[in-house]
Amino acid sequence: MKVLVIGGGGREHALCWKLNRSDSVSEVVCAPGNPGIAKEARCIAIGAEDIDALMQLARDEQPKLVVIGPEVPLVMGLADKLRAENFAVFGPDQAAAELEGSKSFSKALMDEAGVPTAFFETHTDPKQAEAYIRKIGAPIVIKASGLAAGKGVIIAHTEEEAIAASNDMLAGNSFGDAGSQVVIEEFLEGEEASCLFIVSGDTILPLASSQDHKALLDGDNGPNTGGMGAYSPAPCVTPEVEQEVLNTIAKPIIAALKKRGANFIGTLYAGIMLTNKGIKTLEFNVRFGDPECQPLMSRLQSDLGEVLLAAAESRLGGVHLDWDSRKALCVVVSSDGYPASFEKGQAINGLDAVEAAGTTVFHAGTSEKDGSIVNNGGRVLGVTSLGESVLEAQETVYKALENLDWKGGFFRKDIGYRAIKREQKS
Ligand code: AMP
Ligand code: GLY
Repeated sequence: MKVLVIGGGGREHALCWKLNRSDSVSEVVCAPGNPGIAKEARCIAIGAEDIDALMQLARDEQPKLVVIGPEVPLVMGLADKLRAENFAVFGPDQAAAELEGSKSFSKALMDEAGVPTAFFETHTDPKQAEAYIRKIGAPIVIKASGLAAGKGVIIAHTEEEAIAASNDMLAGNSFGDAGSQVVIEEFLEGEEASCLFIVSGDTILPLASSQDHKALLDGDNGPNTGGMGAYSPAPCVTPEVEQEVLNTIAKPIIAALKKRGANFIGTLYAGIMLTNKGIKTLEFNVRFGDPECQPLMSRLQSDLGEVLLAAAESRLGGVHLDWDSRKALCVVVSSDGYPASFEKGQAINGLDAVEAAGTTVFHAGTSEKDGSIVNNGGRVLGVTSLGESVLEAQETVYKALENLDWKGGFFRKDIGYRAIKREQKS
C-alpha cells in the first residue's frame, strides 16, 4: 500500500524508515519530509500545518493510509477533514487532540476521570495566579496551557520566579496565545518515563516503554527542551508499572474522551512520574514522542504499516507487537543555542561515517544547501543504536559521534545514565 506521512522531524524520519521496511508498504510519501526522510520516501514540499494543501495532496495521491506525525495539524483538525473524505487516518480527531492542545482541558479531564496527576489550578488573571502561587509556595510548576513545542513549562524554584513566569505567559510575551491561560501545579519529584499506546476506539495496545531526557544539560540541568535523547525500554517501567499505567491512566482517559464524544485513533502518550506517592501523570500527548519514536521504531519488529492501518480501520483488537529484545538509545544533536536562538545554515559533515560506525542517523531540523546537509532547526539529528545493554548502545552512539564534523552542534554526554546505573548495580 501507499502511505502518506505528515511531518518532517526526527519522529517522522523514524516512522518513514520503519514503514519503508514494512512488507505491507510499497510506497511512502512524506510532506514536507527532510533530507534524511528523502532516502526513505518521496518528499513533497508542503508544510505540516498547511491543511488545505495537505488535503489536496491526499486527493491527488490517494494513499491507503495517512499517518499524522506532529501535534499541530492534529489540533488544527487535519484528521477530521481527511476522515470526512473517507481516508484511513492514523491520528486523533481535533476534539481528542485537545488532550495535548490544551493543558487546562487535559487537567480538567484527568480530574473528571480520576487519573492521578499533580494538584493544580488554571488561571487567566495574573493577580489570582499570584495568590495561588503564594498559597502553594515554591518549588512550583507554571505551564502555558497551549502548544509550545515542549518548552512552555517552567519549574520555578522561588515564588518570585514563578510569579514572573506566570505574568510573562499571561501577558503573551513568551508563548503568545498559548500562554493566555496558565496551569499552575504541584512540583513532583521522581523518575520520569514515557508510556505510549496505540489506541483505536476501546482497544489500547501498549508500546514498549521509553525514557526521554527533557533538560538541555547533563545531569538533567538547564531549561526544558523538546527532548535531548531517549532510550527503550525504560527499566523503571516494570510490568507492574505498565499495568497500572494502562488501568489507571490510559483506560480512564480514553473512556472520558469517549464520554465527551471524542474518538481516539492514534498514539496516546502518557508522560508519567514515579513519585514516592505513586504514579502521577505529567501530561498527555496525542502522537509519538520525539525522540522516543526513534528508539521505539529501532526496536519494533512488527509490520508498522499493518498495525497503523488496523488502528485506522478500527480493527486493532488481536494485534500483537513484537520487539527486538535489545536496547535502543538515541542521542539528539542540537544547534548550539537551542532552545533559545541559534544560527542556521551551518554545514554538517561526517554523517556517513557516523552511520558506518553502527548507528542510524535520523534527521530532524536539517535541510540541503549546495549539495550539503545544513542545520535548519533546533533539534537536528537523532543518532540511534541498538545494544545488548543500554551502556553498549550508548557507547556505540558516542563513539560514532566522534566522526561528526559540525562545530555548531551540541549534544548531552549522559543519555541513558539512569538505566546504566541500574545495569551496573544488577
Ligand atoms: P509537560 O509538557 O507538562 O510534560 O512538561 C514538560 C516537562 O516538565 C516534563 O517532562 C517534566 O520533566 C517537567 N514537569 C512537568 N510537570 C511537572 C511537575 N508537576 N513537577 C515536576 N516536573 C514537571
Ligand atoms: N519527547 C517529548 C515529547 O515528544 O513530547
